[in-house]
Amino acid sequence: MAEMLTTIKRTRVPLTELEQSAFCTTESLVSKPLVEEFKSGVRWQRLPIEYMRTTAPELDDRIRAAKGKLGKRLIILGHHYQRDEIIQHADFRGDSFKLSQLAAEQKDAEYIVFCGVHFMAETASVLAQPHQRVMLPNMAAGCSMSDMAQTGDVEECWDDLMDTLGPGSIVPVAYMNCTADLKALCGRNNGIICTSSIADNVMQWAYKQAPRVIFYPDQHLGRNTGLKMGIKLDEMVLWNPFKPLGGNTKEQLGHAKLILWKGHCSVHTRFNPKQIQEARAKYPDITIMVHPECPMEVVQAADKVGSTEQISKAISAAPKGSVWGVGTEISLVNRIAKENSDKTVFCLDPVVCPCSTMYRIHPAYLAWVLESLVKGEVVNEIVVTGDTRKNAKLALERMLQYG
Ligand code: 13P
Ligand code: SF4
Repeated sequence: MAEMLTTIKRTRVPLTELEQSAFCTTESLVSKPLVEEFKSGVRWQRLPIEYMRTTAPELDDRIRAAKGKLGKRLIILGHHYQRDEIIQHADFRGDSFKLSQLAAEQKDAEYIVFCGVHFMAETASVLAQPHQRVMLPNMAAGCSMSDMAQTGDVEECWDDLMDTLGPGSIVPVAYMNCTADLKALCGRNNGIICTSSIADNVMQWAYKQAPRVIFYPDQHLGRNTGLKMGIKLDEMVLWNPFKPLGGNTKEQLGHAKLILWKGHCSVHTRFNPKQIQEARAKYPDITIMVHPECPMEVVQAADKVGSTEQISKAISAAPKGSVWGVGTEISLVNRIAKENSDKTVFCLDPVVCPCSTMYRIHPAYLAWVLESLVKGEVVNEIVVTGDTRKNAKLALERMLQYG
């Protein structure tokens, strides 16, 4: 273990993070044939050529036809950040928590097609019934934040914390946005999973188990939640996986109540307090609502904070004529604006910059997965098995119970 503490690793930038700006534009986003979207230099899963060249309206008809043939055997779940061309086909849409509840409730459907990112489909697989098959339309749809917490790095961190602080002194809390292996680490060590909509309830549960929490992989959600619970900034430390003991001394770790993994979301770190000041100067009666993955300064300058579902609901329930500046992903903000045309709703970031990994679910992939199912072939299946499944399920069930 002494050897592990002194090893310094080379910094890796996740590929998903490097691709983040591929679709940033100042114009509106409309799905083009896949072959044209590939010209942005992205590395997505390849499909048979006929799917590569098909236009969005044609794909739309084909998705509808295949869905009609599959009937009740199929359920399509769509995360709020999906493109409009995808979300229109979803049987249910929601935030991470709602979608995991929905995945657990779908006892009858044989096929669950998850239009979201890899960790969400893995969660659906863990919560699914044994007869159900879960599919992710594009296997390259990961998440740059999730990529910032590599399994081996978090396991090493946990071992170091056990060596330094001792068993029973710390509980792991994993944000949903991580691999099934890391959810399993929580399950094995009396930890729990949280999502952005229930982070404070989950943290309250965690502090009843131990005096200290390690929260991974999103430092911002962890910090924002800690502050809301009254934990002071000097009681929080950052764990940098590329430094021995995460860049901390044993004394600092002993003093800390909250250890934050050094990860972030490339979409939500685009927001800053200046954007909020400018929006307030333009619209004095504006309400600013941001996602808790935004940095602390942004959350503190906002009027409201919430998950994607909470943002959607708050604006839908708001009075006619109200003005909203929103700090979250653009596909969702544009959809909320369209569905609330009696209000003024806009994204605080003037550049149209979608979540590059959510954006990887192009309608060509959905058409391909559904038409394959019609032919009796399951493609892009996500399966979590064995001890990983058992332990990840334990941590997810705690979340569903205490969140
Ligand atoms: P929600 O749980 O709020 O939908 O967030 C998921 C996500 O990935 C946000 O970046
Ligand atoms: Fe991951 Fe951020 Fe995209 Fe959410 S918005 S899936 S955290 S990269």
